[in-house]
Amino acid sequence: MDALTGLPEATIIRDRESMEPFLRDESHLRGVPPLAVVQPRGAGALRELVRRAKAEGFGLVPRGAGTGKAGGCVPTEGTVVVDFSAWPGDIRVSPRDLCLSAPASAPLREVKAAAEAHGLFYPPDPNSWESCALGGTLATNAGGPNACKYGMTRHWVLSVDALLDDGELHTFGISSVKANAGPALGQLLIGSEGIFGFILGATLRLAPLPREYATLLLPVKRWEDLLDLPGRLSGAGFLPSAFEFFDPAVLAELRAHGPEEARRLPGEALAILEFDERGCTSEAFLEGLQDLLGPVADGLEIASDERQRQGIWAVRRLTSAFLKERHPGKVSEDIVVPRSRLRDFFEGLGRLGFPSVSYGHLGDGNLHVNLLAAGETDPAILDGQLMDLFRLAIRLGGTLSGEHGIGLAKRDAFLALSDPGHLHALRALKQALDPQNIFNPGKVI
Ligand code: LAC
Ligand code: ZN
Repeated sequence: MDALTGLPEATIIRDRESMEPFLRDESHLRGVPPLAVVQPRGAGALRELVRRAKAEGFGLVPRGAGTGKAGGCVPTEGTVVVDFSAWPGDIRVSPRDLCLSAPASAPLREVKAAAEAHGLFYPPDPNSWESCALGGTLATNAGGPNACKYGMTRHWVLSVDALLDDGELHTFGISSVKANAGPALGQLLIGSEGIFGFILGATLRLAPLPREYATLLLPVKRWEDLLDLPGRLSGAGFLPSAFEFFDPAVLAELRAHGPEEARRLPGEALAILEFDERGCTSEAFLEGLQDLLGPVADGLEIASDERQRQGIWAVRRLTSAFLKERHPGKVSEDIVVPRSRLRDFFEGLGRLGFPSVSYGHLGDGNLHVNLLAAGETDPAILDGQLMDLFRLAIRLGGTLSGEHGIGLAKRDAFLALSDPGHLHALRALKQALDPQNIFNPGKVI
């Protein structure tokens, strides 16, 4: 592609075979071959890319480690993929400011480890935390099990370094939680999936590193008994740092076909609860918890050491890949409902009348509803099932994505089901910030 000739500070990939890995993320989608893949190493490359994109009319699709679940980084027609894996910069921890700055290319695993090396904690923990890049987590506002206590990525971002359509780098925010000079433009970029500009780095808020964990396996005889527990726990003053679950079908499948650690999982359905506050391993704390959990529990196991704790988490972490391997055509959804509506949600799901299995983040109402037969279902029928699922979540005060975002995968549903005023405001912002529609065209809106 001539429009990229002589682009400074960048590697350019143009041959079909080398571009193949850039067509996909971890959703079921496959993009169209891009015009090229560019790996920028400096601001000069981006400035020039933006100028040429505007002049030549091609789009720019940002890409981190490609672990997204909504097709946000897969190329659409007439676009160049901008792969930030070579974007330079170091992770710098500032214990005195209780923050850390890092480039978009930093692996999230290294960001978390850098904080830990100073006795500090960066909580966001998407399932892909060992393989994703920080930039992708910022662009998608990633969440994970810890969100039920600590919130999403956006709750940990103090400032964002971003390149906008003027081709220049800007920093939005400062290294303090107190910054109130006008609306928080940095927060507009977090979760924007690259449609307003490129996120190049961020300064992140940190917390003291938890020193103690109580990790519990909570099997239940009747799985519906799990559904009121998140609300009852918080009502009693308990705030788990994670509250995950497997419904009976997912648990049975893990037990029958999963790895060694999964074979011994107890119960008709199972929850994993973790607490991380000081004193959470004390007898008094655990007794209080047992009083609350006892009536619904079918036995209760507490991890006695870090190895057992890691074993429990390993099973939870592999669930998505495990189900995908067994049901390659499955569609996994990511709806969320307020925790007080969990019971209503599952009753409504039963009434929708199509088969599904669920697991995920019960503690914050973010449920991975999986349609295992999606591959064998007529596409129009499947679309109808998904729309019914989204409508149910929305009717209960929830939404169609709790953590994965909209990207390409949920775009049609997002446009069909969102409040028109919301869409109008988003389109107005897009028009103001990216009038030529060069940033991730065809995504989200
Ligand atoms: C998980 C991914 C799918 O929680 O978000 O396993
Ligand atoms: Zn999840």
